[in-house]
Amino acid sequence: AQRPIMVQGPMPIEAEHFAKKLEDVKEEKSGDFVFYKGTLDGYPVIVAKTGKGMENTAAATAVAIEKYNPIAIINQGTSGGHDPSLNVFDIVLGQKTVNLGSLKTADKAENQGIDPTIWKPMDLMASEGSAGEDPNAEKPRFYEGDKDLLAAAHAVKETYTKGKVVDGTIGSADVWNNEVDRIKWFHTKYGTSVEEMEGAAAAQIAKAYDVPFLGIRVLSNNKVNGGTYNPNTATANQGYVYEVVKQYISTV
Ligand code: 5AD
Repeated sequence: AQRPIMVQGPMPIEAEHFAKKLEDVKEEKSGDFVFYKGTLDGYPVIVAKTGKGMENTAAATAVAIEKYNPIAIINQGTSGGHDPSLNVFDIVLGQKTVNLGSLKTADKAENQGIDPTIWKPMDLMASEGSAGEDPNAEKPRFYEGDKDLLAAAHAVKETYTKGKVVDGTIGSADVWNNEVDRIKWFHTKYGTSVEEMEGAAAAQIAKAYDVPFLGIRVLSNNKVNGGTYNPNTATANQGYVYEVVKQYISTV
């Protein structure tokens, strides 16, 4: 049988529009995760409604890989801008995805305070030893977007008319950053284009199983240039990802 392409979306507004575009849909559940199994141009596609955040996403990704053996995974949805040149409705293709919540604090005694500006990135996958003691773990871990998925996304760029489509870096954590100086800190230190709460979790698990992965994120808000939240971006992104999937299918 053909291995399905999996499209993940965290919230109902980020998954159900795509699911409605599939043909012959059957709904299956594992825990809280909903899988819409259908076809697109006769090829099997599964939309996964994962719920928000790193934990839901990691678990839904592992369950889906074990159950459905996907040929590729696209994690998509809304995000907040870190790059002042990106506007609400622009789309970032995750050439890289990175966990922004994986950090080691400075060494300070009682009453020496808290200083997030000198916290260091921490790579939990650097070794099997203690990440707290390992100097090689003091760096971010970047997950590379799959080159064939990126090529499919590049090929259909012009179909998207609501904003621009750019390559960039997607940062993830169960955190919503509203401090502009903190956002700038990530933008400078990690090169982030946008932040959200799922991509790096899915990328890490996809990598563990060697499944090709790409994050595709639309800006629904951008604190650094005053872009206010617009939930309609979620539907726009699914429309673009639909074109990406169609293009990818034509190559497999
Ligand atoms: N920061 C963090 N997550 C965001 N999301 C949209 N904008 C942001 C932002 N500025 C996404 C997350 C999560 C939900 C809150 O929306 O991925 O699923």
